[in-house]
Amino acid sequence: MKQSWGSRLGVIMAVAGSAVGLGNFLRFPVQAAQNGGGAFMIPYFVALLLLGIPLMWIEWTLGRYGGGFEHSTAPGIFHSTWKKNRFIRYFGVIGIFGPLVIFIYYTYIESWLLAYSYFALSGKYATATSQETMKAFLSAFQGLQNNEYFTGLGSAYFFFLITFIMNIWILYYGIKGGIEKLCKIALPMLFVFALVIVLRVLFLGTPDPAQPDWNIAKGFGYLWNPDFSALKSAKTWLAAAGQIFFTLSVGIGVILTYASYLKKEDDVVLNGLTAVGTNEVAEVILGGSIIIPVAFAFFGPVDILAIAKGGSFNLGFVTMPLIFGKIPLGVILAFLWFMLLFLAGITSSVSLAQPAVAFLEDEFRFNRKKAVLIFGVATFILCQPAIFGLGKGVVDELDFWGGTFCLVLFGTIEAFLFSWIFGLEKAWAEMHQGADLKIPGFYKFVIKYITPLFLITILGFWLGQEGIPTILMKNVSPANKPVVLAVRLLLLALFMGLALAVRFAWKKRKTGVEREGT
Ligand code: ALA
Repeated sequence: MKQSWGSRLGVIMAVAGSAVGLGNFLRFPVQAAQNGGGAFMIPYFVALLLLGIPLMWIEWTLGRYGGGFEHSTAPGIFHSTWKKNRFIRYFGVIGIFGPLVIFIYYTYIESWLLAYSYFALSGKYATATSQETMKAFLSAFQGLQNNEYFTGLGSAYFFFLITFIMNIWILYYGIKGGIEKLCKIALPMLFVFALVIVLRVLFLGTPDPAQPDWNIAKGFGYLWNPDFSALKSAKTWLAAAGQIFFTLSVGIGVILTYASYLKKEDDVVLNGLTAVGTNEVAEVILGGSIIIPVAFAFFGPVDILAIAKGGSFNLGFVTMPLIFGKIPLGVILAFLWFMLLFLAGITSSVSLAQPAVAFLEDEFRFNRKKAVLIFGVATFILCQPAIFGLGKGVVDELDFWGGTFCLVLFGTIEAFLFSWIFGLEKAWAEMHQGADLKIPGFYKFVIKYITPLFLITILGFWLGQEGIPTILMKNVSPANKPVVLAVRLLLLALFMGLALAVRFAWKKRKTGVEREGT
C-alpha cells in the first residue's frame, strides 16, 4: 500500500526540512556577500517570486497528481501528465539522478558536521588558534594532508559511517515513521539552536576594544549595504537564481516525491507557501545574521574579503570555530553551530534519498526494506569516490552536475510540462483542489510565460558563462582531468542505468497489463 504523511504539520515540516539545509546557513551569506550585499536581495526576491514559488507550487501539484496514479517519482509523474509521449519518462530520470548525485557528496559533508560537533565538545581542535592551523586541522581531517591532528582518513570515515547509517535507518522507517518523525524533532531544534547563536551574536558588540570599527553592527552593514553596480552583471542574477533553486530544493525532484504522498484533497497552495516561508526565515533572517557579521566583527574589513573568497566551507569549518574559541561559553556555541548544521543537513539528505527509494518501491514493487537495502548498498559504493577523491575535484564535479546543471534543466522541463502540456487551465484547477488559499490570477500569466522564459534565459546565460567552460574542463588542473573524466563516465553510466531501469519497469508493467487484459 502507498505510504502517506501522518499530518499536515508533518508534511510541511518535512518539505521545510528538505529546504532548510547547509544552503541556508553557509551558501546564502557567502553568495550575498560576494554578489552585491544588500543589492543581491533584489535578484534574490525576483527569483523567489518568479521561479521559486511557482516551481514549488508546480512540484507540489504534479507530485500529488502523480501520487494518484501510484507514482512517486518523476518518470511516472511525467508519464501520467503526458501519456501520449513515450519519451517524457526518460526526462523524468533527471529527477532521480540529480538528488542521488547530490546525496553522494552531501552525506559526506554532513558527516563532517557530526564530527565537528564532537570535536567542539572534546576540545580536539582547541589547540588550533589561527586560520592556518585550523585550515591544517580541516585538511588533515579530510585526508588531504597528514599532521599532528590526523593521519589518514580513519576519523572522517568513522563519522561518515555513522552518518550514512543514520540516513539509511531513517529511510528504513519510511515517510511517516522515519522522515516525518525526524523533521518534527530536528526542525524546531535547529531553529532554537540558530536563535541562540543569533542572540549571542547580536550581543557581541565590539569584540576587540583596540579595533572599535570591527563590530557587529558594521558586520551587518558589510553584508547588507547594497552595491547596486553588481546588478549589472549577469553573474549576480545567475547566483541569485541558483541559490533559490538550491535552498528551496526545487528542480531537484524531491518535492515531487514528497507531494506524491499527499491525499487528493490535501492543500498544496498554502502548504507550499508555508514551507517556502519557513525556509526564507531560516535563510535570510537566521542565515544572514551569523557567519558574515560575526566574521567581520572578529577579523575586520580586510581579512573578511579573503575569508569570504575562501568560500562557505572555510567560513563554516575554519573561521567559526576560531571565533567561538574566543568567546565565553564558546564550546557550547560551537557545538550548537555544528549540530544545527548537522540537523539541517540530515533533514535534507533523507529527502535527496527518497526519490530513488520510492522509484524502487513503485516501479519494481519492492517492499521498503528491500528498496532501502538496495539503495544503501548502491550509494555506499557511490560515496567512495567523493570521500577518497575530494582533493581531486570529485565533489566539485558532482556538485556541478547534480547541484547545478540538473536543477535548472529539470525545473525548465517541469515548468513547460505543467503549463504547456498538462495545460494551464487544468493545472490551475488541479492546484486549487482542496486549497485553503486562492492564488492571485496574475500568477497564471507568470507560471505560463514568465517562469519558463526566465528559466530558458537563465539556462542560456548560465551555459555561456559557467556551463560550457566547466563542461570543457577549463578550470580543472591537468593533474585532475583524468579523475574528472572518470567521474563523468561514472555519472553517465549511472544515468544510463536509471534510464534502462525505467525502460524495464514500463515493459514489465505493459506485459502485466496485457496479461491481465487477456
Ligand atoms: N535545500 C537544501 C539546502 O539548502 C539542499 O541545503
